[in-house]
Amino acid sequence: MATSFEEARVTVPAVLDSKGERKLTMLTAYDCTMAKLADRAGVDMLLVGDSLAMVVQGNDNTLGVTMDEMIYHTRMVARGADRALVVGDMPFLSYQVSPTDAVANAGRMIKEGSAACVKLEGGVNMAETVARLVGVDIPVMGHIGLTPQSIHRMGGHKVQGRKGGGAPGARERLMRDAMALQDAGAFAIVIEGVPAELGTAITDAVDIPTIGIGAGPDTDGQVLVCNDVLGLENRFVPKFVKRYAELGKVAEEAIVSYVDEVRGEVFPGPEHCFSAPRPVGNRKERAIG
Ligand code: KIV
Repeated sequence: MATSFEEARVTVPAVLDSKGERKLTMLTAYDCTMAKLADRAGVDMLLVGDSLAMVVQGNDNTLGVTMDEMIYHTRMVARGADRALVVGDMPFLSYQVSPTDAVANAGRMIKEGSAACVKLEGGVNMAETVARLVGVDIPVMGHIGLTPQSIHRMGGHKVQGRKGGGAPGARERLMRDAMALQDAGAFAIVIEGVPAELGTAITDAVDIPTIGIGAGPDTDGQVLVCNDVLGLENRFVPKFVKRYAELGKVAEEAIVSYVDEVRGEVFPGPEHCFSAPRPVGNRKERAIG
């Protein structure tokens, strides 16, 4: 009996085949605990995003995170993923210097990080690199639109491809980027921060699945940052984020209770204490009796 997409481990070919069949779900994860939670919840793909530079490390942008740090977190996530496809994000300058560097670093992401594939930002400018990676059997997910590693070119985390706004020709350029990634052999494309109708147009134009974040409802799948979905923090919430819980508040309240109970000598109670060992003589008597 054939296993369904829901039951089986999610693979790169399964993601490719899903276009037009089912909506794909992707969530970021940065450690094993979150990976296990998301995997059990049925998320298809776990992205170890370079957003960890901001979310985990507390930086203002994604540029500072290193290859070694990305591998460290990817390995933790891979340990917690029984079903989901693990996508390792390539950090800034790990793939832009040369295609040869890109192969070496993406290879580390697979070998040392246990990712099944990598994600990198860029379109036409990265087509040669994507083709080199795919040529050595490293599956690549592209990422176009608002690409956070281009923060200084974009002048901030700004919506891309707006009609009448932004750089002239940006919409056409994004469409060319998507086609270039597809032609280079990418198996999926993240589209971030573009008007919804451009997300639809790119999705209709390519044969590979698109995963949107702030790209409207018509992309083949959606991705969000786990801390945003769970409401873990009070940092700036972009328009495209939906908070499905307010776990930050719950966590803070729990920690306040712990602090109060320790100060008030309520915790630890007798139920949290180990009893003294029985004297040896008693134990012997019991064993005989
Ligand atoms: O790094 C990341 O988390 C990402 C997603 C937001 C797509 O690239």
